[in-house]
Amino acid sequence: MPLADIRPYLEDSRRKKYALGCFNVFDTETLEGVIEAAVNKKTPVVCAIYEPQFKYSDLESFTDLIKNIASKTDVPVILHLDHATELASIIRAIKCGFTAVMFDGPVGASFEEKVEKTKKAVEIAHLAGATVEAELGYITRVGVDEKASQENIADPKLAKEFVERTGIDILAPAIGSVHGMGEQKATINLEMLRQISMSTNCYLSLHGGSGVDDSIVQQAIDLGINKASVYTRLSNRAIERVKDCLSTGKGDISVILNEVRNGFREVVEDRLEVLRSVNICNPANETCHYCTSEKYCVSKASSPLVSDSQPYIKSSAIGSMSNRTYEDVLNNVSSLIADYVKNK
Ligand code: 13P
Repeated sequence: MPLADIRPYLEDSRRKKYALGCFNVFDTETLEGVIEAAVNKKTPVVCAIYEPQFKYSDLESFTDLIKNIASKTDVPVILHLDHATELASIIRAIKCGFTAVMFDGPVGASFEEKVEKTKKAVEIAHLAGATVEAELGYITRVGVDEKASQENIADPKLAKEFVERTGIDILAPAIGSVHGMGEQKATINLEMLRQISMSTNCYLSLHGGSGVDDSIVQQAIDLGINKASVYTRLSNRAIERVKDCLSTGKGDISVILNEVRNGFREVVEDRLEVLRSVNICNPANETCHYCTSEKYCVSKASSPLVSDSQPYIKSSAIGSMSNRTYEDVLNNVSSLIADYVKNK
C-alpha cells in the first residue's frame, strides 16, 4: 500500500496502550529487515531516515525503493525523517514522500527561537499533510554528551506551551534516555513523563529506546508514550552476526549482507513484542479501518473512514486537496512549498 499517515495508528496506540516501533534504515538490507519483522508481527511500522544520512545515500532513489517495497507490503509503512535540523531537509523529505518528519530546531537555541523555527516546520509539513514531531529538552548522545542527560530533561511546564504554540503532532520530551546506549541503563524520569502526559493531549515519543529497560519502556507506554525509536540494538545485533560470519569464514559479501537483514529483523521483532505492537493488523481490529491493504483489512468496504482514493490525509491545512490521493498532494506540494518559502 502507499506510505501511510501515522495519525490513525498513533490514535489506536493511545487507545490500546501500545507504542508504534520506529527503526532507522539506510539501505536495502536494513529496510527489508524492519519491514519483514513488521509483516511477521502484523503491525504498522515507522521507518526512519536520520538527517545526516542524506550525505551518504541518494535520498530520492532510496525513498523510491521504500515506496516500492511499501506498495507490495500488507502492513502500513510510515516514512519518518529523524532529527532534522534544517528546514531544507524537511522540504526535501516531503518532496520525496515522507509522511512524518521530526524537527530538532537549532541545537542550543533558546525556547523562543525553537518555537519560531518549529512553527515554520509545522506550517510547511502540514501543507503536505505530513506530521511533525519535535524534541523538548535535549536527548543526549553517547560519546558526545550523555553525562548531561539529567540536566537536559524537558520541563513539564513548557510542554503544553510548546505544543500549543508550535502545533506539532508528536512531542519527544527528553526524560533521561540517551541515544546510542548498548546497555539498558538509562535513568528514566517517569514522574516527569507523567506530568508531561497530563499537561498535553499531544502524542508522545520516546527516543534512545536501546538504552531503556523493557519494564520501564512498558511503564512509559502506560503513561502515554505512543511511538518508540530504537536503533543501536539493531546495529549491535547486525554487527554480532557479521562478526560470527567472518570468524567462521562463511560466505561472501552477499551472505554477510543477509546477516545484516536477519539481525535487524530479529531485533525489530523482539522490540515490537516489548512495545506490544503485535497483531495490530488484524481484520477483527478496528485499526484496519484506516488501512488500504486488501490482505488484512477485509472490513474495509464497510468502513466509513476509508474509500478507494486513500483519504487518509485529513489535515485541514490541505483544504480543498483533502479529497485527493496522497500522490496528488505530493505533486502539488512542491509549488506550495516554493510559494511558502518565497513569501516568508
Ligand atoms: P537508540 O539508537 O539509542 O536506540 O536511539 C534511536 C533513536 O532515538 C533514533 O532517533
